[in-house]
Amino acid sequence: MNITGHRWLNQHLPGQRLPKAVAGKGTFVIDDSGKQYLDGSAGPALFCLGHGNREVIEAIKAQYDKLEFGYSANFTSDAIDELAEMITRQAGGDLMRVSFVSGGSEATETAMKIALQYHVARGHAGRTHFIARRQSWHGYTFGALSLSGHPARRRPYVGALLPVSHLSPVNVYRPPAGVSAEEVASYCADELEREILRLGAERVAAFFFEPVVGAAGGAVAAPEGYARRVREICSKYGVLMVADEVMCGVGRCGTWRALAHDGVEPDIMYTAKGLAGGYAPLGAAIISERIYQAIASAFGTLATVHTYSGHTAACAAGLAVQKIIVRDGLVEKCRRDGEYLMKRLHDEFGQHPFVGDIRGRGLFVALEFVQDRETKAPFPAERGLYAKVRDEAFARGLLCYPSPGTVDGYSGDHVLLSPPYTISRDEIDQMVDLLKASINAALEQVVAQH
Ligand SMILES: Cc1ncc(COP(=O)(O)O)c(C=O)c1O
Repeated sequence: MNITGHRWLNQHLPGQRLPKAVAGKGTFVIDDSGKQYLDGSAGPALFCLGHGNREVIEAIKAQYDKLEFGYSANFTSDAIDELAEMITRQAGGDLMRVSFVSGGSEATETAMKIALQYHVARGHAGRTHFIARRQSWHGYTFGALSLSGHPARRRPYVGALLPVSHLSPVNVYRPPAGVSAEEVASYCADELEREILRLGAERVAAFFFEPVVGAAGGAVAAPEGYARRVREICSKYGVLMVADEVMCGVGRCGTWRALAHDGVEPDIMYTAKGLAGGYAPLGAAIISERIYQAIASAFGTLATVHTYSGHTAACAAGLAVQKIIVRDGLVEKCRRDGEYLMKRLHDEFGQHPFVGDIRGRGLFVALEFVQDRETKAPFPAERGLYAKVRDEAFARGLLCYPSPGTVDGYSGDHVLLSPPYTISRDEIDQMVDLLKASINAALEQVVAQH
């Protein structure tokens, strides 16, 4: 039988044939026709050191030459020991223990289970309910999808998901109805407290949130004061504060922990994408010594592990990536280049009639599109603006990360830029120029549909 499209099924549409990626060099990916793509989003905010980094590749090869994996139920290794030491030092404070996993969703699940195990260890087995936010993304496994405030992705599974409370998104550009931008931090923190009281604190295990929301909202950082107030509320009611830094963490926002910007330490944090920068599947849940000690004294160890947890070659990749980030001062570079990128975006799009908001932190920024800057009305979802921006950019050799559903999960469009930390200023300029041409071409089609 003749089939159209690919046999393997991930994200492409029926009949669609994606180009083959055959090489990568720095900020660029090259396909089998020789076309070069400037990776303005580092895939999904993944390739923090860009592509084809020889040092990382040599470190992974060197590990494979010795041993692929010293299975972590039986052995430790230099790679896992050094990486654990390095990332707990970067996380700082009481965040002193790590559980390695293979990606972001597994990290979310691990954080959920650690929270539950902690409460059981302390004799609070009734604390099983989770609170999260709308316009958030925590992953596609069942627990993570239950936490995620992403109606379109939840839709096929919604009846089978865990009951989770979803609070308002914390977004000063689109505050909850009747709330001013200045009131967003206190309103949203109060909403958390009200929900804990409504449920009964004795039922609540943890509050999960992205310190800077990624694809589900488009680089939305909470306003000053929100995270501090959330910290106080969580501590007051014995609810664990869990920061999902899968996308925004590991330096992308200009601090190694995104939440460090707010001067706040969570009970549990987890990260993935930038940890090994796409050179190996790797994630990590980092937990406070206090949480770990409670679990260890009741159970001995964590009641969650996977076959590939702490895979040696994956940890060698993570270690090589993290060493380069420190050696080359890339966290600070994200902060500085983020300011430059933001200025360039304001210069090019600050007066654009269809760009309502330009936001983000470090090299994690987004533009939100609107039909009308005054009313902030989005374009109708059926016009598919985000997909047109993606396609126009792809045709011009720019990879960016446009998404739909920015306003309420269904309507609204934004485009995320999250380039490799190693991007040069020239490449930032090229990226902004390509983006501008792509956005204008996409908008021409979408406005013409009116
Ligand atoms: C904030 C956040 N959390 C969790 C995940 C899930 O990570 P993964 O796709 O590696 O399972 C993602 C993925 O995009 C994410 O952006």
